[in-house]
Amino acid sequence: MKIRPARRLKGQASIPGDKSLSHRAAIVAALGKGISHISNFSTSRDCASTLSCLRELGVSIEQDGNNVRVEGVGEVGFRAPNERLDCGNSGSTIRMLAGVLAGQNFSSTLIGDGSLRSRPMERIIEPLEMMGAHIESRGGKLPLRIAGTRPLKAIRYELPVASAQVKSCVLLAGLQAEGRTVVIETLGITRDHTERMLKWFGVPVDRVITPDESAGIEIQGPVSFAAHDVNIPGDISSAAFLIAGAALLSGSQLEIEAVGLNPTRTQFLSMLHSLGLDVRVTDIHEKCNEPVGNIRVTGGAFLESGGRVESNSVRGGSIPQLIDELPLLAVVGTQISGGIKIRDAAELRFKETDRIATTVKNLRMMGVGVEEFADGLAVAGPASLRGAALDSFGDHRIAMAFTIAALLADSESEIAGAECVEISFPEFFESLESLVER
Ligand code: S3P
Repeated sequence: MKIRPARRLKGQASIPGDKSLSHRAAIVAALGKGISHISNFSTSRDCASTLSCLRELGVSIEQDGNNVRVEGVGEVGFRAPNERLDCGNSGSTIRMLAGVLAGQNFSSTLIGDGSLRSRPMERIIEPLEMMGAHIESRGGKLPLRIAGTRPLKAIRYELPVASAQVKSCVLLAGLQAEGRTVVIETLGITRDHTERMLKWFGVPVDRVITPDESAGIEIQGPVSFAAHDVNIPGDISSAAFLIAGAALLSGSQLEIEAVGLNPTRTQFLSMLHSLGLDVRVTDIHEKCNEPVGNIRVTGGAFLESGGRVESNSVRGGSIPQLIDELPLLAVVGTQISGGIKIRDAAELRFKETDRIATTVKNLRMMGVGVEEFADGLAVAGPASLRGAALDSFGDHRIAMAFTIAALLADSESEIAGAECVEISFPEFFESLESLVER
């Protein structure tokens, strides 16, 4: 994909349904009894992987554009699959489905693409085995063969990594366990969509404070519940690319309606704000137990504020709440006086690519001074970006972050493998092109 520099972004963008929420809506609807209609379902390839695995497990699913009808089978109604379950590129699909499959009385094998095969699965194998499932893997990596057990044992589990996927895996297994399963988050609060989605379906899920004052989530199993309709808001992590592009290009005006504004996902917006960029949120309301609202961006505000920046660094408990936006934040940092420093983000090395390494490589190709740490990076800014031959490394968020960087560059750039944007945001280039003024 060739990308020419842009003068500004102008207009309204509509953002497809949230990927994280769509996975959960489909899986929870499959576990419920009866018919759930999901509207504005994500158009991402990752969510298509979740639907195809659920179909293979005997769930009847009809899709008409962004509307999905799921005929929930209840927690004991799944069928042993005839084929291996292909999760494609999707970490959320495999980790959440593993939690469901651990409680079934059949065995199943989960596989994925080259990227997913390189990602760590020990983090879900450990708690699911504590709950009674038996899991074989290739040294903690795919393929995973899960021999389910019914009923599972309830556990108290302290997350060894701040991961919503692992938390969700244990909670979904906890639905099918005898007793109280408690998941404790000591390393930072991660996105709480699973908790909210389960509540929307009428499942009691409680936030608890443990005696040592850690935050926990408790679920009392086993639970049966009924179908529920769900409307999915726009994906804030997809919107983030357009928001950053508009905020950085002077003269831009961008409006986005009906975006998910769950506080465990909006840290990127807060960060842009503290960097002096003009991003406003309006009309916040609740829909299906999730906050939703509109976003308005005015470009180049930081230029007018004379480069005033509140904080050039992000670390600690905020990291899980903007984990998917960190490569983009590094790009934003190139335009900010004092640059940006990201630490405590070693988890980035276990995403679709090692996102610290792939971000650093592309930034250096564009002539930016960047220091790499085991758990993050420091970007020098303000820097002028050089048009360059860049690589997505097959990672959708790297492709989109560097498309935004390319809009800011002094000459045309080329991004190899940019078609991988379909993993989360297939309409990305079309949407961007409709906003760009050159
Ligand atoms: C996700 C959680 C995050 C995120 C991923 C989606 C989810 O992963 O990076 O894109 O839907 O729960 P981790 O929870 O493993 O950090």
